[in-house]
Amino acid sequence: MYKNVINFIQEYYQREDFIPLHEPRFFGNEKKYLNEAIDSTYVSSVGKYVTQFEEMIANFVGSKYAIATSNGTSALHIALKLVGVDADSEVITQPLTFIATANAISYCNAKPIFLDVDIDTLGLSAIKLKEFLKENTYINEDGECINRKTDKVIKACVPMHTFGHPCKIDEIVSICDSYNIAVVEDSAESLGSYYKGKHTGSFGKVGIFSFNGNKIITTGGGGMIVTDDEELAKRAKHITTTAKVPHPYEYIHDEIGYNYRLTNLSASLGVAQMENLELFIRKQRELADKYKEFFKDLDLDFITEPKDSKSNYWLNGVILKDIETRDKFLKYTNDNGVMTRSIWRLMNKLEMFKDAQCGDLSNALWLEDRVVNISSSIVL
Ligand SMILES: Cc1ncc(COP(=O)(O)O)c(C=O)c1O
Repeated sequence: MYKNVINFIQEYYQREDFIPLHEPRFFGNEKKYLNEAIDSTYVSSVGKYVTQFEEMIANFVGSKYAIATSNGTSALHIALKLVGVDADSEVITQPLTFIATANAISYCNAKPIFLDVDIDTLGLSAIKLKEFLKENTYINEDGECINRKTDKVIKACVPMHTFGHPCKIDEIVSICDSYNIAVVEDSAESLGSYYKGKHTGSFGKVGIFSFNGNKIITTGGGGMIVTDDEELAKRAKHITTTAKVPHPYEYIHDEIGYNYRLTNLSASLGVAQMENLELFIRKQRELADKYKEFFKDLDLDFITEPKDSKSNYWLNGVILKDIETRDKFLKYTNDNGVMTRSIWRLMNKLEMFKDAQCGDLSNALWLEDRVVNISSSIVL
């Protein structure tokens, strides 16, 4: 029934064996830089590649500061701590996201509030956010946004740019600004994506990226925190490196810190991958164009970049008619050696978050039943 989809994908990749969802590509200076890092003996968290990788990301994204971390999840955990999220806080986010977004909130012992996404962006809905804040919160004398239901402070909001497609981040930031809520952008998937000409991750107080093996560039495992705030940047560096106070020979730590720093080995891969990022984005977008053309006559909707944005098309997706059709599509493609995956189960349906406060989630529920990710590796 979906034979034409299998044929199209096999033809694009010129292979008939198993086709994964998103494979990394290493064809530049990865081995050279990795060897240099090994030869230098600086293999852990200090070394020239860590600094170079941070500078490259900051320049590319247009943020003043970038701090490399062990992965995107640790970047998100620290980002939330930077804006003051603690055990007394609540954090608004979307239920349609990868588990790391919600986990990072829990690592701070804070509680998530799940609000709906937009169908066109797959990201947090600015309209639903505005409605929720208007109906459910007030600003106290200290200027904090208080949730009427729980009397807790809503400290932060974490919108996510799903599959690399930017959400309406400028509206979200402006709404949050008026309620004194800090925006932490989960841009784990959106390196190379722009909203109204500005790079994702650079709108909020803090943004984060992931360089996991399946992302548009990879360091094996890795993450990055970006911000324009010098104090937050200094603090990010401090608490990701065990909160060690500089001293010529003594070990002094002034708070509970984390060992979340990226290694020089990983960063060496990151520098090499960054040298080809523009090419990777171009190729991802070319693949998306081919899919767009192919799917236009079929009863599947190919997900395209939202209005006002330029997406990196990191992970391609289609929307099927209903959950039965989705399941048939998933089974057929996976049975025939083409890896496809359903979108994430909504966070509020998972055991750990089943008691979380939620808004009306009709769009997220609709998408959860229908969205499937399809082959997104590039061919060079
Ligand atoms: C939306 C989102 N947030 C956070 C992460 C966490 O990144 P990492 O896997 O590098 O910890 C990922 C990806 O893996 C992600 O897709």
